[in-house]
Amino acid sequence: MFQFQKALGQLEQKHLFRELIPFDSEPSTVAQKNGKTLLLFCTNNYLGLANHPTLKSAAVSAIQNWGVGAGASRLISGHLRLNDRLESVVARFKSTEAALVFSSGYMTNIGAIGTIVQREDLILADRLNHASLVAGCRLSEGRFRIYPHKDMTKLRKLLSDRKVGQDVLIVTDGVFSMDGDITPLPEILKLAEEYDASIYLDDAHATGVIGAHGGGTCDHYQLSSSRIIQMGTFSKAFGGFGGFIAGTSTLKQYLINKAPSFIYTTALPPSVLATALAAFELIEAEASLRERLWKNRAYFCHKAVQLGFDTLGSETPIVPLRIGSSEKAINFSKKLLEEGIYIPSIRPPTVPEGTSRLRVTLTASHTESQIDFLLSRLEKVGKDLRVI
Ligand SMILES: Cc1ncc(COP(=O)(O)O)c(C=O)c1O
Repeated sequence: MFQFQKALGQLEQKHLFRELIPFDSEPSTVAQKNGKTLLLFCTNNYLGLANHPTLKSAAVSAIQNWGVGAGASRLISGHLRLNDRLESVVARFKSTEAALVFSSGYMTNIGAIGTIVQREDLILADRLNHASLVAGCRLSEGRFRIYPHKDMTKLRKLLSDRKVGQDVLIVTDGVFSMDGDITPLPEILKLAEEYDASIYLDDAHATGVIGAHGGGTCDHYQLSSSRIIQMGTFSKAFGGFGGFIAGTSTLKQYLINKAPSFIYTTALPPSVLATALAAFELIEAEASLRERLWKNRAYFCHKAVQLGFDTLGSETPIVPLRIGSSEKAINFSKKLLEEGIYIPSIRPPTVPEGTSRLRVTLTASHTESQIDFLLSRLEKVGKDLRVI
């Protein structure tokens, strides 16, 4: 018999047990839980679009016009015109020839990487890549090597050690989801050109957030290359759901024909597609959303560092506060909850041992007084627990 209870007990002992927290309202900067109002500083709703009236009405009108479900997979009868429209917009936004929408970011990563990489190929992946990238790499039949976080010397060494003629895919987050720092894409691209490799760039937390136009990591560094396969999701800055790959038309055709997580699942509901389309319109028309996000990020980060928190090199609206042990991180999070603030602790295996943290995320919708309240409670609890 499987020993589930024993395994759960072990997690509990190591302070690694996870549980679901039910909320009774839509999660914006605040949410209701058991009649109590909590301030949220943990969502990926960077631009506040998950609660935006324009997206809500786009979803409602898509339901009225197209129904609630796609009814089948894309290759059967689920390929509604909305998919074509959305894919053209993604490709334009990402400055690529084409794009392909998947059911989620996770499904994109677990399907696309293994479809691109064959048994004889090599994957080189950053040590702090998101779990969905790790899963995608493990599911592929290629060889999988990890380089230390953003270590270009080690990456060069691994590239130079590849077998003659071996195809190589360098896999990296654009913005690292638990650290909030940005991948050194120009250096990676230079190495990729030198060693004739390709790059798989997970821009889940970068799209809509970084870059002069919110285009993500390529926009941030103002570079483009057909060597870069860009992945993204509509579940963070876009406030909705669904993932995508942006790249060449040939890659798109290849994934349509070969990627199991694209082929063997029901297409996204029309309301989800319409929501993503509406989000693009807002993101392109309203640069002020991004400006507010970055203003909030700068305000918080500056003061958190002044208080003495280690923000682990964050460069984006993801601002981790390093706590250390899992036990202390849980305790910190519980004490903040008593003060009316919800930020769950992030622990291994999501982050390396000894680096448990509170992952604070700022959004465009937070007010300065909400951020001031957070800072005052962080100072109080941080001093009580001797974190600062
Ligand atoms: C870096 C990264 N990639 C991929 C995903 C998966 O995206 P989705 O939530 O759309 O499945 C996430 C979300 O947690 C992420 O943080």
